[in-house]
Order: sequence, then structure tokens, then C-alpha cells
Amino acid sequence: LVVVIDFGAQYAQLIARRVREARVFSEIMPHTASVADILAKRPTAIILSGGPQSVYAPEAPQVDPALFSTGLPAFGICYGFQAMARALGGEVAQTGLSEFGRTETTIATQGTLLAGLPETLNVWMSHGDSVAASPVGFTALASTAGAPIAAFENVAGGLAGVQWHPEVLHSQAGQQVLERFLYDIAGCRPDWTPANIVDDSIAAIRQQVGDGQVICGLSGGVDSAVAAALVQRAVGDQLTCVFVDHGLLRKGEAEQVETDFVAATGVSLKVVDAAAEFLGELAGVSDPESKRKIIGREFIRCFERAAREIVGESGQVDFLVQGTLYPDVVESGGGEGAANIKSHHNVGGLPDDLQFALVEPLRTLFKDEVRAVGEQLGLPAEMVWRQPFPGPGLAIRIIGEVTADRLAILREADAIARAELTAAGLDRDIWQFPVVLLADVRSVGVQGDGRTYGHPIVLRPVTSEDAMTADWGRLPYDLLERISTRITNEVREVNRVVVDITSKPPGTIEWE
Ligand code: XMP
Repeated sequence: LVVVIDFGAQYAQLIARRVREARVFSEIMPHTASVADILAKRPTAIILSGGPQSVYAPEAPQVDPALFSTGLPAFGICYGFQAMARALGGEVAQTGLSEFGRTETTIATQGTLLAGLPETLNVWMSHGDSVAASPVGFTALASTAGAPIAAFENVAGGLAGVQWHPEVLHSQAGQQVLERFLYDIAGCRPDWTPANIVDDSIAAIRQQVGDGQVICGLSGGVDSAVAAALVQRAVGDQLTCVFVDHGLLRKGEAEQVETDFVAATGVSLKVVDAAAEFLGELAGVSDPESKRKIIGREFIRCFERAAREIVGESGQVDFLVQGTLYPDVVESGGGEGAANIKSHHNVGGLPDDLQFALVEPLRTLFKDEVRAVGEQLGLPAEMVWRQPFPGPGLAIRIIGEVTADRLAILREADAIARAELTAAGLDRDIWQFPVVLLADVRSVGVQGDGRTYGHPIVLRPVTSEDAMTADWGRLPYDLLERISTRITNEVREVNRVVVDITSKPPGTIEWE
């Protein structure tokens, strides 16, 4: 384990991910963690992240010098580099010279950290102060116009640092520099592989669950599928999965869960076919918030009923599986309490008399790692690589009342758009590709020799990192043309296809 100590960096999660890309497990801890807390994790090395402040600012987070007498290998990045220099008796100068963005670094000595790199390197900088003198025992390796010492190392002490941000893609050889530290200075071994993650998770789940009864709600999405598959591997028949088919899924998705997922994992699955119920409750409703509330409420009702049927009136569910991911844990402060409140919320709040503990096998994983684990477990690729899909499903992609006919129209149009995106090989370039039916809008068209009066379909391809912000996806014109032609030819009720070119903000990704 490598602990990334977060000094308020924009990039702490990115650092953890890069370390994991080097196949070394990594977790983030806040800079307020005590040396004892850090040691309790038994890390093999630590990385001090960048941070927004000058090390001289009165409220600047400081590194406890005791950290460096623990003998733990440490790597400082940007602010962490300066904090390390200062804590060990080097000199950090307030030069007033700032460097932001792409900066040329000159390598004077390769040492161990920069071994094999060219004499100059384009790296990504963001700093005001700079290190003017290395601590005793350190070798200065590189410099830039604004930073007389831009990298140093003390290999015998297991210490090194760089002024730049090796974790960002714009930094040349960034991953290589991190790996030199991890492998050659800190002595880490690259054994964080999907196969090992699976083995470790299974052992941890067995330990937690014992011979208890476990249930898991499947949404059709990748997180709940991978979590369920892991638990199934760990405790087999003690797990029952519940899949509430609300009739608002896309073409083929329910079958994917009911057939492909079961075939790949052997889980025992309870399907609740609630499509008619959901449609009944949604009849006459076109307000987006009302739709969401109704769907949330019905979902809990179905899940609750299924859970009771599984355990019987007097029985009890000991554990509930949640697909909580590492970014959620970090963002909620990593505190057990905070994470639990959110987790309960995720399942919509089960009834109070169902007492259970949570099993969260993906709590330490990023999304891409969850996908790698899913592949390792042999889940169908269409499931593992699925783009995010909202819980309320197609109901919030039909603008207007949701009816069976309208769902059928949207399902066809959506299937065509998805198939063409896949055929163009762009699934992984586009974050999400909602297809929206403007059910209350009609426009005049002409097809064959006749006048049509049909509905428009909106294509909403977006690119994003985290769905908090998004840009509209620039799909190739010929792809757009194929989608438009196929939808208007094959879906009788649709006579017009438009593309949404709004970023988020001001738009949201979904239309409702
Ligand atoms: P918006 O439309 O707010 O969506 O830009 C951001 C992301 O969240 C997804 N989304 C949901 N996911 N339940 C979910 O599980 C929901 O109620 C829900 N609403 C929106 C949306 O698809 C996008 O990825």
C-alpha cells in the first residue's frame, strides 16, 4: 500500500490512480492524519501531494518531520516536494517567479529517479515558491527557468521529489518517473492486478459475511453487477440478487441481467416484473420530479417485498451488498458514518425492521478497476463496458407522459443509435449517449409521397470525466447521418432527428 497524503490537491485521486496503474495499491489520506494513523495502515511508501498554498502561508498544512524518521520511503510532488525540502532542512525560496502549465525542465543528473530520460523534458508545472537548496544528503537532479531545483533524490534514505506534476498526462514521462520511485527507490512490487484484487476481495467478503444471508439489488449497471459477482464467488448460495424490472430499461438490458449475467455468474436471481405497476403509477404524469419520486417509491416497494419473500416474514437479511466506489468514499471524507448514510440512501432506505450490515466490495476501487475486475470475473463485455444509465431509466428520456407505446418508440430509436455508435468504435470515447423522445412535440415531414406528422428524437452524446460537467460529443457527420437515416426509416413514428449541442452547465446531461 502506498498512502497518498492529500494536501488539498486537485490531483490527489489522480496520483492514487497512477500508482495503481503501476500495479501498486494506493489510498488517499488527508494531511490531518497523524503519523500514527498513517503507520497503522502499514504502508510501504508515502506520496506527498501538491496543494494550493505556499509552504510559508500561515495556515499552510505542514508535514510532521517525524514522518521522515519512520524510515518510510517518500515521494514529494509540487507542494509535497517543497514541504519535504523544508521539513528536512533544505531551503524553499519565495522567488516571486511562478510557472504554470507546460515548462521545459533540464535534467543535469539522471540519478535513479530520472534514469533513462532525455536531457530536456516538457512537464506540467503549477508553483510560486521553489526549492533553492536541497536538504543534506540529497542530490539535485533537474532545474527549470523558475525552479533552481526541480527534482531531487536521496536514494539511500528512500526519498525523492519533483516540482512538477508527473501524474497529469501533459507531463512527459510522468508515469515512468513515478514508477522509478515506486520500484527502484521505494522497492514496491507491481502485484496489484485484477486477479489479486479478486482474490483479496473474496477473502475479505468471506471473513465479513461468515455464514450470514446476503441480498443485492441489481440495476443492470456495471457496479452492482461486479459487486454481486464478487460476493457470489465468495459465498455462493448465501447471496440472492433482486432485479426489479421496472419496464423502463433499454432494449436488451433486462435480458442481459436475467440471462447473460446469471449464466456468467451462477447467482440466484429473483426477478420482480413490475413493468405494469410502474406504468400504472406513471399514467398521466409528465412532471420530471413527480416521475422521479414515483419511480423511487415504487422501486423501494418492490425491493422490500422481494426481500421479505426471500427471507420470510420472520427471517432476516444479515448483509446488503452495495456497489459504492472509491471516489464516493473519498468525497464523503472517507468516514464510515458519512458513507453509510449515503449507501442507505442509494437503496432508497429499506424498512427499519430489516436489520443488516453493508458489504461494499468495491469501496477501494475506481471505475476502471471495477471494469477490469468485471472482465476478470468473466462478466459479459456489454455489461462491463456499459455507459452510465440513470436509475429512472427511459422515463426521464420521454419528455411528456410515459406510456408503453412511447417506450417502444424510444427503445427502438435508442437501440439504433447505440448500435451505430458501437459500430463506429466510439463507445469508449463518448461518456454517455442519451436518446430522448419529445413525445409531446410533433412536426411535419414527408416520406414516400405522403405527409407525416411525427415526433422528434434528440441525440445527446456527451463527453465527461465525472458527469459533474460535460461537453457535447462531436460525433462524425457520417455517423450522425447513418443514425438519422436509420431511425427515420425504421421507427415509423419518428420523422426528425436533432442533435443537442449544449454543454453542462448550462444544460444537464439528461433532459429531465
Ligand atoms: P444530469 O442529467 O444531472 O446527470 O447531468 C448526471 C449523471 O447522473 C445520471 N443520473 C442519474 N443516475 N439515478 C441515477 O442513478 C438518477 O436518478 C439519475 N439522474 C441522472 C445521468 O445519467 C448522468 O450520468
